[in-house]
Amino acid sequence: MASAKSKTVFFCSNCGNEYSKWMGRCPACGEWNTMVEKEVVTGKRPVAASVPGAGRKPMPLKDVSTTAEDRVSLGSAEVDRLLGGGIVKGSLVLMGGEPGIGKSTLSLQLPLGRPELKTLYVTGEESVKQVKMRADRLGGDASNCLIYSETDMDAIIREADSVSPDLLIVDSVQTMYCPGVESTAGSVSQIKEVAAALLRFAKGSGIPVILIGHITKEGTIAGPKILEHIVDVVLQFEGENRGAYRVLRSIKNRFGSTSELAVFEMTGTGLREVENPSEMLIPMHEEGLSGTAVCAMLDGNRPFLFEVQALVSSAVYGTAQRSATGFDVRRLNMLLAVLERRAGFKLGQKDVFLNMAGGLRITDPACDLAVIGAVLSSNFDYCIPSDVCFAGEVGLSGEIRPVSQASRRAVEAARLGFKKIFVSSYTHFDTKPQGIELVKVADIPALVRALFK
Ligand code: TYD
Ligand code: MG
Repeated sequence: MASAKSKTVFFCSNCGNEYSKWMGRCPACGEWNTMVEKEVVTGKRPVAASVPGAGRKPMPLKDVSTTAEDRVSLGSAEVDRLLGGGIVKGSLVLMGGEPGIGKSTLSLQLPLGRPELKTLYVTGEESVKQVKMRADRLGGDASNCLIYSETDMDAIIREADSVSPDLLIVDSVQTMYCPGVESTAGSVSQIKEVAAALLRFAKGSGIPVILIGHITKEGTIAGPKILEHIVDVVLQFEGENRGAYRVLRSIKNRFGSTSELAVFEMTGTGLREVENPSEMLIPMHEEGLSGTAVCAMLDGNRPFLFEVQALVSSAVYGTAQRSATGFDVRRLNMLLAVLERRAGFKLGQKDVFLNMAGGLRITDPACDLAVIGAVLSSNFDYCIPSDVCFAGEVGLSGEIRPVSQASRRAVEAARLGFKKIFVSSYTHFDTKPQGIELVKVADIPALVRALFK
């Protein structure tokens, strides 16, 4: 066996990539000034995180048995759905989000709401007393929830082994440390090791683990993106801290879909599940406001409606500003270029600000049409009637393209009282949705004619 030697390497503190020499800019993630120097021991490899049974003989795939009990319900319909029908035994779930968004609240609320599960809640951030105060505020049944204030991973694994809970929650990855690794808690190598230790524990014991991780301002979990490929599931909290609504999105799921999201409202007694997300996302003002348009969007399999807000004003300083919250600013620029070239709207000298209601981040291309609607509405100071919504993608030549599952979007819009939905002329409907008029538009000039006639 090779003897242990040490050498110096450089880690990018943003993405976790390792280099042999220092660089000003990380070639992998493109961030500047993120290199940190670190001494590592070589020659003696640490045990890699591996699934139990590694080293056993290969077996035919058809003989591997899976049973329905492999999942455990966490008692929250929305969280269970997000996970694909409960948490999978032996899985490691990372719950990320900015500080103060509600990660600790949700992870404490789950065991309190489901006392059938024996839970070990490890807190490295708050004292046992603080957790107790929070639990009192949340209500629920705390009889089967053990609180453990510890940051040493060896001790945590030892306790978890002896307690053998149904669920282990670790709050947070940044505060924990493995005594075998010589760097401070929260550093890249510690975060990697802590996650690897928990993964080994989860796979070995079959106990599901929820690991909480803070997100940096760039939006990457735990700073280093490294955690995302170690864990089985990544759930991420989004939303404005100031607002009451928070969106929990699954951005990676080895056991289910990743396009799901769940909406919660922060109340005086914890997070409330919002079963109908349209409730938070559709207009919260009286009719008669220009610059808003409602999009019928789809998250995973669930259609819902939400409001797009735009503000178009003359640029005060030389160059026009473009800013988008919750929407890709490059896509906004592209849509504005299409409006200029294909429909003759001169927006080059205008500032354009775009905002998605509820702090939601939107990637559904069906939102394009509502963005165009909101921009034009603000530009002309014309109010789009409140019973009109949109679902269409916009192409570079100004054509309006059909979107997936248009009829389900239209049905949901009709259910919420919308009277008209703007869709692409090329949309195919198997059956015409009842109670809502389909306004079919082929391109932007047709949209403008239909909207402002
Ligand atoms: P927290 O869950 O501690 O956030 P994180 O663990 O993600 O850092 O805190 C969420 C915020 O919510 C905090 O500012 C206090 C507030 N809050 C409520 O409004 N109602 C409640 O019942 C609780 C427990 C917290
Ligand atoms: Mg917390």
